[in-house]
Amino acid sequence: MSSILAIIICLLALFTQSQSLSSPTVCIIGSGIAGSSLAHFLRSYSPPNSPPSAARILLFERNGIVGGRMATVTISGETFEAGASILHPMNYHASNFTKLLNLKRRIPPTSMSSFSLGIWNGNKFVFKTLTFEFKNPFVQKIVSFANSLYMLLRYGFSLFKMNSFVEVTVNKFLKYYQSFETRPTFETVDEMLQWAGLYNLTTCTLQEELVNVALSPLLIQELVTVITRINYGQSVYISGLAGAVSLAGSGGGLWSIEGGNWQMASGLINRSDIELHLHEEILSIFNLGESYELNSTKGRSYMCEVTAIATPLDELNIQFTPPISIPERQLQHTHATFVRGLLNPGYFGLQTVSEIPELVGTIEDPDLPFSSISILKRHNETDMTYKVFSRKAMPDSLLDNIFSVRKETIRIDWGAYPHYKAPEVFAPFILDGQHLYYVNAFENAASTMETSAVAAENVARLILSRLFGEVSLSTSYFMSSFSDDELLHAEL
Ligand SMILES: *[C@@H]1O[C@H](CO)[C@@H](O)[C@H](O)[C@H]1NC(C)=O
Ligand SMILES: *[C@@H]1O[C@H](CO)[C@@H](O)[C@H](O)[C@H]1NC(C)=O
Ligand SMILES: *[C@@H]1O[C@H](CO)[C@@H](O)[C@H](O)[C@H]1NC(C)=O
Ligand SMILES: *[C@@H]1O[C@H](CO)[C@@H](O)[C@H](O)[C@H]1NC(C)=O
Ligand SMILES: *[C@@H]1O[C@H](CO)[C@@H](O)[C@H](O)[C@H]1NC(C)=O
Repeated sequence: MSSILAIIICLLALFTQSQSLSSPTVCIIGSGIAGSSLAHFLRSYSPPNSPPSAARILLFERNGIVGGRMATVTISGETFEAGASILHPMNYHASNFTKLLNLKRRIPPTSMSSFSLGIWNGNKFVFKTLTFEFKNPFVQKIVSFANSLYMLLRYGFSLFKMNSFVEVTVNKFLKYYQSFETRPTFETVDEMLQWAGLYNLTTCTLQEELVNVALSPLLIQELVTVITRINYGQSVYISGLAGAVSLAGSGGGLWSIEGGNWQMASGLINRSDIELHLHEEILSIFNLGESYELNSTKGRSYMCEVTAIATPLDELNIQFTPPISIPERQLQHTHATFVRGLLNPGYFGLQTVSEIPELVGTIEDPDLPFSSISILKRHNETDMTYKVFSRKAMPDSLLDNIFSVRKETIRIDWGAYPHYKAPEVFAPFILDGQHLYYVNAFENAASTMETSAVAAENVARLILSRLFGEVSLSTSYFMSSFSDDELLHAEL
C-alpha cells in the first residue's frame, strides 16, 4: 500500500514538474516598453497551442498606468509627450508595433526642418538660425536651405563627418533585425554589442570618438553638446555609443505616436493575454530553487518559474535572496517643466518674443540653469506651451525671470536614463544563472524606446531557448497578426 502511494506521489511529482515546465508562470516587473514588448515577443515567438503560449504572464506596475517613462502630460487641457518622445525612422520594432496596433504616426514640430534653433551660452546666442513666420511651405523650404548653409558656414565639413559617424553606427545597429538564422541569442550585453561591432563605442567618450573622426572642437562644444544635453541631459563625456544614438535622435524623419507613445505598451499588453497588476510594486524576490517567490506592496506572494526585471534596478529597493551583484550605477535625473504662457525676450537680451528661437539649446556650463527650452505648441502669438529641460528643479523665481506670462506650470522629475560614463560596465541579462532576467541591462549601452524593444526581443528568445531548447521559430504566427491588407500595403 505504502509503496503504491510512493509511486503515486512520485508520478504526481513528475507530473507537476513537467506541468510547471510546460506552462510556466512568467512574472515581469515594469510595464514600460521593455516589459510590454518582452510579453509581446514571448507570445509571438511561441507558436499557437504549443506549451510556452500556455504560460501565464503576470505583469507588475507600481503606478496606476502602463507605459513607464512613456507618459503624457496634460496642461491647460492639451496633451503632450512628457517623457520618451521621439522615434527614429529606422526604429523597426516601434514601427511594427504601431502598424500592429493600428496606431497613427505623427511628426513632432521640433523635427520640422524649418524649426528655428538658437544656442544660448548664458549671455548671448552664439548661434541662431533664421526665423520667419511665414506659413508658406515654399518660403519655409528656402529658410531651411538658408539655415543649412548658415550651419555649414559655422561648422564646416565637420557636419558631414558627424553624419557619417552616426550613419555607420546606425548601420551596425541594424544587425539586430537580422533573422534568427544569422543572429544568435545573447546572454550578455557585452556579447550582444561585440557581435554588432558596437562594443568599442562604449569604452570611450563621445568627445574622444568625435575627435578621432576629426570633428571640429566648435561643433563638439556647440551643436553636439546641445543635442546630448537635450536627449540625455548630459555632456559629451557620455559614451560614444550613447552619443551616437543621441545624435541619431536629432536627424530627420523623426516621429511619435498620435495620442502618446505609451499606447505602444498599452496595446501590446492588451493583446498579449497578460494578468496586469497595477499599483503593485514588487518588494522582494526569493529564489526557492524551482521558482521565485515575489512579495508585493499589496502583501501578496506570487510563484514564478521565470522572473524578468524590465525597469532600471538603480533606484529600486528590491530585496533579492540570495543577493545579486550588478555594477553600481546612477540614473540621470531630468526635470521636465511644462509651461503654458510666454517667454520673456528680456531674459535673452532680445526685444520681441518672435526673435526667440523655437528651440533654445545650451552649451555645457554649470551656471546655466536649464538645458533646453522648446515650443511644444503655438496657440497664438502671445500664448504658447513650452517644455523646459533642466538638471535641477526650476524654482518659481527663476521661471518668473525666464517667462513673462505663466498661466500653468507642471513639473516632472524623471529618473530618465542612465548616467553614462565610459568605459561602461554592464550587468548581465541573466542575473543568477537561472531564470532571473534583466532586460534593462542593455540600457547602459543606450537608452531609447527601440533599444529597449531590441533588448526585450533578445531576452524573450533567451528565456524560450533556456526553457525549451533552441527555438526554431517560424514567423508565421507573428505575421498572422497583420491583416492581409496591411501586408499588401507593406509590399506596395
Ligand atoms: C516587422 O514586421 C514585418 C512583417 O510585416 C516583418 O517581416 C519584419 O521582420 C518585422 N520587423 C521586425 C524588426 O521585427
Ligand atoms: C575594438 O577594439 C579592439 C581593441 O582595441 C580591437 O582589437 C578591435 O578590432 C576593435 N573592434 C572594432 C569593431 O572596431
Ligand atoms: C487597452 O485596453 C484598455 C482597457 O480595455 C483600454 O482602455 C486601452 O485603450 C487599450 N489600449 C490600446 C492602445 O488599445
Ligand atoms: C513573502 O511572503 C510570504 C508569505 O506572506 C512570507 O512567508 C515570506 O517570508 C515573504 N518573503 C520575504 C522575502 O519577505
Ligand atoms: C491668444 O489667446 C488667448 C487665449 O488663449 C487670448 O486671451 C488672447 O487674446 C489671444 N491673443 C491674440 C493676439 O490673439
